[in-house]
Amino acid sequence: MASPFEAPDAQAQQPGIPWAALSHIFMFGNGKGGVGKSSVSANAAGKAARSGLRTLIIDCNAQGNIARELGYKRAEWNDGGAGLLESLRTGAPLTPRENVRENLDVVMGGPALGDEFGIFFHTLLAKEGPHAYLRLLMCLLPIAHRYQIIILDTPPENPSLQRLALSAARWLVIPVKSDGGAEDGLAQIGLEFSYVKFVSQINPHIALLGVLLFDTGRTYTGIHADVRRQVQKVLGEEAHMFKHLIGHTESVARLVRKRGLLVQELADRRANGDRSIPETAEGLAADYEGFTEEMFARALELRKEAAA
Ligand SMILES: Nc1ncnc2c1ncn2[C@@H]1O[C@H](COP(=O)(O)OP(=O)(O)OP(=O)(O)O)[C@@H](O)[C@H]1O
Ligand SMILES: [Mg+2]
Repeated sequence: MASPFEAPDAQAQQPGIPWAALSHIFMFGNGKGGVGKSSVSANAAGKAARSGLRTLIIDCNAQGNIARELGYKRAEWNDGGAGLLESLRTGAPLTPRENVRENLDVVMGGPALGDEFGIFFHTLLAKEGPHAYLRLLMCLLPIAHRYQIIILDTPPENPSLQRLALSAARWLVIPVKSDGGAEDGLAQIGLEFSYVKFVSQINPHIALLGVLLFDTGRTYTGIHADVRRQVQKVLGEEAHMFKHLIGHTESVARLVRKRGLLVQELADRRANGDRSIPETAEGLAADYEGFTEEMFARALELRKEAAA
């Protein structure tokens, strides 16, 4: 399939880093844990790959939860983030594990991105200053053209890894839950976003694509409106809420990590007669499909607006 992001990004013309060719990089981030960053990263990447787009997912988490979503936690080739750390250390191109699914490659996360990363990055930062935050992008650049969609899953409580991702991404997507306490996480990622875009101007091209409601009752419109108000209070009136949301479906979410299958893959099995999978898998797969399409459409729309 042709990449929807093929044409150069008019807003991002700038010498040095070829930003104009990097508008296919999406980051999921929030300063709060457990709001769906990994679930949405994996399922959106899966949907892109399934629709024929060459897709890369980069797991920037010491927890390495993408391994659970995609079922490679115990695979002998799961390097626990060692490859990513090595690239960051040396500046060498990232070396993704290819075809974890058809059209879907993965740069693995895991424990190597914990203390070991912390010590290394502290030294790099002391040496290079804020420029150090471009290190992930530098390692991604030589391979970015191979992909039509790149998705970064990021941790909640590691500002260094968050900034590395924010400095590489064109689009920030913030998943939120409606369970209260969303403000702190939003404020944190909002501040980090401002740091890379406006304060240090390390990545002037990043844009907030939108906020996604995750794990919510599909019909709880009053609660949704309340979350929207909360989001706009913290991030500003212009903060966009995606129309699609990811509904609360705990039984399917548990099965995803137990079986290491994406929601759509569970839904397919259900459709093929596997009654051990709840029928709610289909609804959740539809949520992910709708959201992913909306996310790409909005990114293209914003690019068009910026060019005009
Ligand atoms: N549709 C759903 N309904 C209910 N729970 C879900 C749903 N999808 C995923 N979950 C569960 O919600 C929890 C949080 O999801 P996830 O790990 O994606 O969040 P996260 O923001 O990446 O967390 P962390 O900050 O720890 O990395 C997980 O236990 C996951 O299995
Ligand atoms: Mg996660």
